[in-house]
Amino acid sequence: MIEFKDFSFRYASGKANALQNVNLTIDDGDFVGIIGNSGAGKTTFTYAVNGIVPHHYKGDFYGAVTVNGLDTVDSKPEQLAVHVGSVFQDVDAQMVASMVEDELLFGLENFGIPHDQIEQRVTEALEEIGISDLRMRDLDSLSGGQKQKVAVAAILALRPDIIVLDEPTGELDPQSSEQIYSLLQELNRRGTTIVAVEQKIGLLCRYATKLLLIDKGCVMLYGTVREVLQQSSRMEEIGIHVPRIVSLHKELTRMGLVRCPAPVNMDEAEAMAKEALG
Ligand SMILES: Nc1ncnc2c1ncn2[C@@H]1O[C@H](COP(=O)(O)OP(=O)(O)O)[C@@H](O)[C@H]1O
Ligand SMILES: [Mg+2]
Repeated sequence: MIEFKDFSFRYASGKANALQNVNLTIDDGDFVGIIGNSGAGKTTFTYAVNGIVPHHYKGDFYGAVTVNGLDTVDSKPEQLAVHVGSVFQDVDAQMVASMVEDELLFGLENFGIPHDQIEQRVTEALEEIGISDLRMRDLDSLSGGQKQKVAVAAILALRPDIIVLDEPTGELDPQSSEQIYSLLQELNRRGTTIVAVEQKIGLLCRYATKLLLIDKGCVMLYGTVREVLQQSSRMEEIGIHVPRIVSLHKELTRMGLVRCPAPVNMDEAEAMAKEALG
């Protein structure tokens, strides 16, 4: 469980709080998608979960953040890393090895995973992401999208309870993006808590269970995908594009053609279309 209590943070060189008075809980087994405009505080939110704030980035830290009961201020980043695996926005900065296999090995050895389990963990993680063929490649020779997949594989191999990802599909084509998210969904169904910052809101609506909308450092909306999509006007107010199916629902409702709530999946979209046509 992740708990934010009266949390605010201002970077040492920041003019204002990057996040302001955040109070929320992410429960075990949640799949939270974080959306918001550039500079809203999404990355800072992920840093508050994995302890980069305040351990790497100093500043004024108010309130408390706890991860599986550990206070992030009192806990060492290495302690937090056992609970939270992170995939950063800048994957290049995250890479420590020069070869794909070593990138995975490094984390496993660092975590003290018994040697007789390591080979299986590496093989499985690469297979799950579908990059077994890249195992012996130099990281330098990979595309941005391939590196993103390596970064995700390296975290999967560690099997943390919580995985935090900051725009993990930024360099991926639509098909690979779906692949990463369906894998995250599978992990989530097996019990891993997922927190993902993502520009492609349509992807989140298909895979996440909850959405968190951050605006100018404040939590604007937080709830199930359905709850948040019901408030699509508030998203549009701040320039967030809602999925087309949601704007279509709004239009059909305005025209008096449907009375159903905003659809959150294909089945509901189909039901909405039938209602509109019938
Ligand atoms: N290292 C830093 N030092 C000072 N200010 C920062 C730093 N990183 C981010 N900020 C500021 O904090 C705010 C939130 O940034 P960020 O969390 O990166 O937003 P997002 O990920 O939503 O684009 C922005 O105003 C940004 O300029
Ligand atoms: Mg960011």
